[in-house]
Amino acid sequence: MAKSSSYQPKSQANTPESVRTLISQQRIQKRVAEMAKEIRRDFPLEPLHLVGVLKGSVFFLTDLARQLKGQISMDFISVSSYGQNTHSSGEVKLTRDLDSSIEGKTVIVVEDILDTGMTLQYLLRVFEQRKPRRLRVAVLLDKPERRVAKVRADYVGFTIPNEFVVGYGLDYAEKYRNRSDVGVLTLQKARKKS
Ligand code: IMP
Ligand code: MG
Repeated sequence: MAKSSSYQPKSQANTPESVRTLISQQRIQKRVAEMAKEIRRDFPLEPLHLVGVLKGSVFFLTDLARQLKGQISMDFISVSSYGQNTHSSGEVKLTRDLDSSIEGKTVIVVEDILDTGMTLQYLLRVFEQRKPRRLRVAVLLDKPERRVAKVRADYVGFTIPNEFVVGYGLDYAEKYRNRSDVGVLTLQKARKKS
């Protein structure tokens, strides 16, 4: 499920659930190739360890990995959110840890979207304690209007307005991940019972 469960797409009366393309497949592929070059410019020679945040980052990570020259390894982590109204020290919970140590590695955390920033803030805290050589963040999408936590990404594919988006890994109730583009989702407004 989407991690921010309290965060819903807009709904409109008499409109079936629909997706309007915001970023085309061609634009995504072009930008991902550019991002790979930006990353390699900063780290020309060293092996890069890509850490994908499941499940939303999977399409972005595999395309990025294929565009990156040189030695690459990858691992995955999974987190879930407690939502905004819960107590507890952190709103994010680790549900699947990495397979291998990141100590001494040049780690690029790969995320689908930077929204409130709570997920990334939590992950960066966890990873920093594990003593990577370097720790950087690549996100396909950035929604700065929604930011709560003080975090930023080193590599951003596209900055987008405050809309609920799906596709290219991003889901709504597990749907739409397999779209090749990124689109804005509109839901049908529930009818009032008379
Ligand atoms: P953050 O902790 O609020 O930055 O949440 C980031 C996570 O929330 C992403 O990795 C997504 O799983 C989910 N998310 C945030 N915005 C959207 C959206 O517009 N569509 C789908 N999922 C979203
Ligand atoms: Mg995600």
